[in-house]
Amino acid sequence: MYKIAVLPGDGIGQEVAREAVKILGILSGQQGHEFQHQQALVGGAAVDAVGEPLPEETVQLCRGSDAILFGAIGGWKWEALDYSIRPERAILGLRQKLGLYANLRPVKLLDPLIDASPLKPGVIRGLDLVVVRELLGDLYYGKPRGVEVIPGGKRGTNTMTYTTEEVRRIAIVAFDLARKRRKTVTSVDKANVLETSEMWREVVSEVGRDYPDVQLNHLYVDNCAMQLIRNPKAFDVLVTSNMFGDILSDEASMLTGSIGMLPSASLGGKIALYEPIHGSAPDIAGQNKANPIAMILSVAMMLRYSFDLPKEAERVERAIVSVLVEGHRTEDIRQEGTKLVGTSEMGDLIARHLL
Ligand code: IPM
Ligand code: MG
Repeated sequence: MYKIAVLPGDGIGQEVAREAVKILGILSGQQGHEFQHQQALVGGAAVDAVGEPLPEETVQLCRGSDAILFGAIGGWKWEALDYSIRPERAILGLRQKLGLYANLRPVKLLDPLIDASPLKPGVIRGLDLVVVRELLGDLYYGKPRGVEVIPGGKRGTNTMTYTTEEVRRIAIVAFDLARKRRKTVTSVDKANVLETSEMWREVVSEVGRDYPDVQLNHLYVDNCAMQLIRNPKAFDVLVTSNMFGDILSDEASMLTGSIGMLPSASLGGKIALYEPIHGSAPDIAGQNKANPIAMILSVAMMLRYSFDLPKEAERVERAIVSVLVEGHRTEDIRQEGTKLVGTSEMGDLIARHLL
């Protein structure tokens, strides 16, 4: 029996989490597996209910679970709040409390979506890369930080910082992963300008010496942003810092047709967290328009990484491909000649293939 904490959060997080739960319900009882889930408040929904984005009760539920499924957080409604109680603090706090330093974001083009991508088919056919994003360092957590009043105005400060150990452990994740794939690591930094990056590069190179079978390349982040569009298939495992990884993974997601296609796994602690890389999309929230595939692919990642059930994970992934082959599309991946469906219909269609 597996215990899963489900934290839907805000906006479309609510809607896509509902579809994930639907899939868990179908899988539960099959092959003798049982998936139990319990929901908790997080993000703006928690701010509204109890005045803080990450209630202790939610943290306790996560700690007592075998894995966490996270929807999305944030929205216009909470943008004016003080930084310390903004919804975003919840996911940053959870990552930190659970020690989730390694964020895997697979960027895989599913064949039926080849025309949904803004790039030409020849550039992206067969695309399969993974962004390994460091998740607990960098500008996100570095100190000093804040805004102070100075003569004539204010000064805002955030600090880009990494320790050797933080770089080493994420580099190891990337090289280990590359070994199981096409044996190429691209490390992305800004070593021509930033000392932190210079150190990052040194440490990654040092770790790389333990992996003579894996090829290591270094790219500056600006060049990488360009190469991801020019020739994305040159990448296998792309390892980078928290901030660069946040930006590059949104960019890379579009290669697969939509940001609504990209799942992620946050690993490194005792309990892992799985979430789509997209946000709460307040503009389409509550309209049954969101694409639940990134969330359902996150369920597949959970089956694979937390529960060591690769066959079940593949079944879920195959079910998604089948539904796409049949021509069903949510709005974000809609093309001519396809059948437009809503969030819950997409979930139903995928679920049906798993019966
Ligand atoms: C992501 C998101 C988060 C991040 C936000 C919501 C804090 O953009 O997971 O990519 O920046 O890490
Ligand atoms: Mg992001």
